[in-house]
Amino acid sequence: MRHLIDIFDLSPAEIDEMIAVACDIMDKPQEYAHKCEGKKLATLFFEPSTRTRLSFEAAMYELGGHVIGFSDAGNSSSSKGESVSDTVKVVSCYADIIAMRHFKEGAPMVAAMKSDVPIINAGDGGHNHPTQTLTDLLTIHREKGRLDNLTIGLCGDLKFGRTVHSLIDAMSRYSGIKFVLISPEELRLPSYMRDMMAEKDLDYVETRDLEAAMPELDVLYMTRVQRERFFSEEEYLRLKNSYILTPDKLTNAKQTLSILHPLPRVNEIATSIDSDPRACYFSQALNGKFIRMALILKLLEEAKK
Ligand code: NCD
Repeated sequence: MRHLIDIFDLSPAEIDEMIAVACDIMDKPQEYAHKCEGKKLATLFFEPSTRTRLSFEAAMYELGGHVIGFSDAGNSSSSKGESVSDTVKVVSCYADIIAMRHFKEGAPMVAAMKSDVPIINAGDGGHNHPTQTLTDLLTIHREKGRLDNLTIGLCGDLKFGRTVHSLIDAMSRYSGIKFVLISPEELRLPSYMRDMMAEKDLDYVETRDLEAAMPELDVLYMTRVQRERFFSEEEYLRLKNSYILTPDKLTNAKQTLSILHPLPRVNEIATSIDSDPRACYFSQALNGKFIRMALILKLLEEAKK
């Protein structure tokens, strides 16, 4: 059974193929409108979500399929003490494919070991978020026409931001990528990620200074400081405004810069940037639906084999 637990579960060639399918769906949605008739997607969300869950649900509806699930684990049997394994074992009797978000790192992997249907990791704690990464890759591809030879700035909460971890994993497989890691010391990329980058001999620098890094960036990936992962509210309050992207900070940016953010935004990007042609975060959210359609199609196809 093929699952998507982390982005390395897909080869770069498969990602290219999914990007092509997502673009084809954008052009010819009618051709895909019945592809999943009679199929059910279950969305099991043990943590809050707007874009990820609703884009998965919209994706399945636009493929002609159905959706079941919960968005509040308090309403599910996990509140009675049921294990993730048991929940998934049962839900896989009802659904053909499952998207799961969980606050515990590794929960979707445990689920995949028990499931009779494909499991998609829709975010596990501060660990990984591979479908956001597919969304990001589609967005970069559409904006830049390529996934190689880019300088990418990742800014904000690099410690707890799971979207950052998965995006670095994904980009580590393309050539000519330079990573500029922009964060306060307290929110540095975890050492296991830095070790991986050093082992693979990736080109990266760490800095605290967003404005100094700006001129060389092709892509700027802004992130929210992940309040829910902090041990102390005081520490969160001290760090939450570390970076706020305002128009003046873009003075020395390239005209061709693409500004991405997985959203939700708190205050990391001033709303006055939304109308700047370099702001891509709302089209990025739309892209999330199309790439999830391509993913559902692929995993259901593989499940038939
Ligand atoms: C991200 C997440 O859940 O990790 N959101 C998303 O899925 N688009 C980023 C975040 O919550 O800050």
